[in-house]
Amino acid sequence: MRAERGNTFFIHTFGCQMNQADSGIIASLLQEEGYVPVEHEAEAGIVLLNTCAVRENAVDRIEHFLQRLHGQKKRDKGLIVGVAGCIPQYQREKMFSLYPAIDFLAGPDTYRTIPSLVEQVRSGGKLSSLEFNSAETYEGVEPVRQGAISAFVPVMRGCNNMCAYCVVPFTRGRERSQPFRSVILEVQKLVASAYKEITLIGQNVNSYCDAEEGYDFAALLEAVSREAPSLRIRFTTSHPKDISESLVRTIASRPNICNSIHLPVQSGSSRMLGLMNRDHTIEEYRDKITLIRSVIPDVALSTDIIAGFCGEQEEDHQASLDLLSDIRFDSAYMFFYSTRPGTLAARTLEDDVPEPVKKRRLQEIIDLQNRISGELFHEAIGTVVEVLAESESRRSSEQLMGRTAGNRAVVFDRENYQPGDLLNVIITGATSATLTGRPIHP
Ligand code: SAH
Ligand code: SF4
Ligand code: F3S
Repeated sequence: MRAERGNTFFIHTFGCQMNQADSGIIASLLQEEGYVPVEHEAEAGIVLLNTCAVRENAVDRIEHFLQRLHGQKKRDKGLIVGVAGCIPQYQREKMFSLYPAIDFLAGPDTYRTIPSLVEQVRSGGKLSSLEFNSAETYEGVEPVRQGAISAFVPVMRGCNNMCAYCVVPFTRGRERSQPFRSVILEVQKLVASAYKEITLIGQNVNSYCDAEEGYDFAALLEAVSREAPSLRIRFTTSHPKDISESLVRTIASRPNICNSIHLPVQSGSSRMLGLMNRDHTIEEYRDKITLIRSVIPDVALSTDIIAGFCGEQEEDHQASLDLLSDIRFDSAYMFFYSTRPGTLAARTLEDDVPEPVKKRRLQEIIDLQNRISGELFHEAIGTVVEVLAESESRRSSEQLMGRTAGNRAVVFDRENYQPGDLLNVIITGATSATLTGRPIHP
C-alpha cells in the first residue's frame, strides 16, 4: 500500500549522539502509529527537526531551516512542522511566535506524545508537550537504526551536574539510567542482528547506576562486553569525577572494549574549573589521566575544551595550552564560549572576554591541537592497526573508511573488503585528522 503523503515523515537531526539515537526512537514511535518514513524532506507530509541548544550557532542553524519551511508551508498548506529535542525544552512556547512555521513542540522526555500531537495539529491549532519526566528512559521502544554496523545504546539520560556554561541540565533534566536488564536485552538484539560495534551513550555515561540490580558503569560495561564478545564496545561521554579505578581496570581487562576514552576537561586552569563549577581541579584531572595511562598504556584520549569563558585571563588560557602539550590528546572538540541564557554563568558571571580575544585563543588551541594530532598520527606510519570498515570513502569507491580501536579514521584500498569487515591495515600516510593505508593479509 502506498502511503498517503500526509502520513509520511522526515526527521532532520542536529546535535550530539543522544539526539541521533533519539531520532531513531521518534521514528519508531511514529512508525508504530502507521506513519511512514521517506528518504527526502520534499516527499514528507510531516517534517521534524530534532534540535540542539548547546551553543548559539546550533540554534542559528535551526532558524534558517524554520524560515525555509515557513516559505514551503505557504505553498503546501497541509505540511506539518514539529520541533523536538533540546531547543523547545529550553525556549518553550515563545518559539511559536518567533517561528510561525512550527505546529508542535516536544521535549526530550515527551517523544511518546509526538504521534498524538500530529493528530491533534491536523484538527487545527499549535501544541506543545514539554514536561520533564525523570522516569522516562524509553524502555521498550525499539529504535529505528541507521546502518547495520555500528549502534548507539543510550544507557542513561539527563545530567545532575551544573557546569556553569551548560544548558544540558535545563534541556535534559535529571539523570536516570536504563535498567540493566533492558540494556542487556538491547545488546542481545544487536548481536543477533550482526552489528559489529556498540557505543553506550549518556550525557555522563559513567554516572550510570542501576541501584536495584547493583550495577555501576564499570559493572555494566563488563557485562555488555561479555554479552557481545565479538563486537567492539565504546562509550561516551565520561565525566572525570566518575572515572573509577574499577572502570579503568575493566577497560584494560576486556579485549573487546576499545582502549579509548573521551574525557572533557574544558579548561587547563583550576581557577576556571572552579568558575565553571566542574567539581574538580586540574590536578585531579591530571591524576585521572595518570591512572588511566598506567593501567591502559595504549589508551587513546580525547577531550572537549572551551576558550574564553567568563573571567579567563591570558594565564588561564596558557594553562589550557600547557595541558594540551602535556597530555597530548589524540583529538579534541574545541569551542569558544557562548552564553546560554538561564545557565549559572549567564545569571552570575560576566561574559567579559571580548569576541576577538575568544576567537584568537580558540585558534591558538586549534593550531596546537592540530599540530599534536598530526605528530601522533605521523608516528603511526609504518604500524599495523586493526580497522573496522564503516563505509566507502568520500573520495572514491575504490577506498573504504574505517576506524581504529582508538577512534582514528583510516582510509584504505578497498580490495575485496566490505563495510563491516574487521581487518589489519598498514599505515602509509597521515594528516592531522586521517590515516591512510592498505590492507595486509595474514
Ligand atoms: N555531557 C557532555 C557533553 C556536553 S556538551 C559532557 O559533559 O562533556 C559538549 C561540549 O560542548 C561540552 O563538553 C563543552 O565543551 C561544550 N559546551 C557546552 N556548553 C558550551 C557553551 N555555552 N559554550 C561553548 N561550549 C560549550
Ligand atoms: Fe553539561 Fe557539565 Fe552536564 Fe556535561 S556534565 S552535560 S558539560 S552540565
Ligand atoms: Fe545538544 Fe541537547 Fe545534545 S543541547 S549536545 S542535543 S543533549
